[in-house]
Amino acid sequence: MALEFNEMEFENKWHVVRVPLGSRGYDIEIGPGLLTTLASELAEMDLGHRYALVTDSNVHELIGQDVERMLSDSGIEVESFVFQAGEQSKSMETVVELARGMVRSGFDRKSAVIALGGGVVGDVAGFLSSLFMRGIPFVQVPTTLLAQVDSSVGGKTGVDLPEGKNLLGTFYQPSRVVADIATLVTLPRHELGNGLAEIVKYGMIRSPGLFSLLEERWWDVINLDPELIADIVARSCAIKADVVAEDEREGGLRRILNFGHTIGHAVEAVSEYSVAHGEAVAMGMVAVSHISVGRGLMNDEELERLKGLLRSLELPVAIPHHISTSRIMETMRHDKKSVAGRINFVLTRSIGDTVIVDDVSDEEVGRAIDATRQ
Ligand SMILES: NC(=O)c1ccc[n+]([C@@H]2O[C@H](COP(=O)([O-])OP(=O)(O)OC[C@H]3O[C@@H](n4cnc5c(N)ncnc54)[C@H](O)[C@@H]3O)[C@@H](O)[C@H]2O)c1
Ligand SMILES: [Zn+2]
Repeated sequence: MALEFNEMEFENKWHVVRVPLGSRGYDIEIGPGLLTTLASELAEMDLGHRYALVTDSNVHELIGQDVERMLSDSGIEVESFVFQAGEQSKSMETVVELARGMVRSGFDRKSAVIALGGGVVGDVAGFLSSLFMRGIPFVQVPTTLLAQVDSSVGGKTGVDLPEGKNLLGTFYQPSRVVADIATLVTLPRHELGNGLAEIVKYGMIRSPGLFSLLEERWWDVINLDPELIADIVARSCAIKADVVAEDEREGGLRRILNFGHTIGHAVEAVSEYSVAHGEAVAMGMVAVSHISVGRGLMNDEELERLKGLLRSLELPVAIPHHISTSRIMETMRHDKKSVAGRINFVLTRSIGDTVIVDDVSDEEVGRAIDATRQ
């Protein structure tokens, strides 16, 4: 990938979103071509005397090597640590491998980490940073749409266990997030949906304006118009930052980020992860909206708008028949988010306005899942 760009041309396309968490607060920078400023930013932040550039095998090939060269050409001491791309690498074994590699290369408490890649890299590198020598600073450089709008923001890090996803983890905030929209150019099309579903979610839970913007310009969205994507990523980060700042550890408000995820996660699990996260969340948002409509909270017209937007963005709105209602419901009951048998659901009163309830009956959930199939 060419890292050169015309600074004048892009200047007005950059956004900065602050995550206001007191002394742990940080900036998220968003815009096309931002990677070219990474070296000067690191020099200015002065997080450590050496940087471990943690990335996966795909990203290393595509841009990692260029980024490493660019940083070292600017006088920054940097070494790449690369693991095999894919969710299977999101494990304690990978963290231990990376940590051992860093120790062998002489990294110490005065070092810092750069997480260059998607959500897997961010979660692994963030977790590693929180543990290495009891915690060293890290910078997130997300390169998937999902990582730019979701996983790089909010400070959740972690790895999977054979028993389940994200079961080991920490809350550990990065020192900065640098989201270069230009990196998305190489992202496979099917990966885009994972980010788009979260963006629709932000509109549904907090922003009728973002929702309308997506409806009006869905064509430019799926064609990755850089200025528009930067704007949409910035709005999404601002919503997540706002929610996280109010509720860093998921006692209350942060739960609204689970909109569409309660049923969505179950669909993903029952499908044995053959349904992608974004697809499952899209189906989950439609299903849970049927519950809202059934309760007279949201009107039919808004549910149709949600379905229309998801279809425009090439996301599914119906849960496939082979993923049975009974298995989805059984899986939901075992999900770690159900407290004392009661499952929290995030419902919407209208687009942009949520309410959390814990009194949804099995019949309502079953009916809503089935309604998506019609
Ligand atoms: N920490 C959080 O708050 C949080 C939130 C949501 C999701 N997550 C986690 O994020 C992970 C999913 O993240 P993801 O969807 O980014 O997956 P990913 O990191 O596996 O990336 C998807 C694929 O795209 C490749 N890739 C990355 N950037 C690329 C680019 N610019 N061009 C071409 N290919 C590129 C990767 O190598 C990988 O093959 C899951 O493990 C999930 O649990 C964490
Ligand atoms: Zn999600």
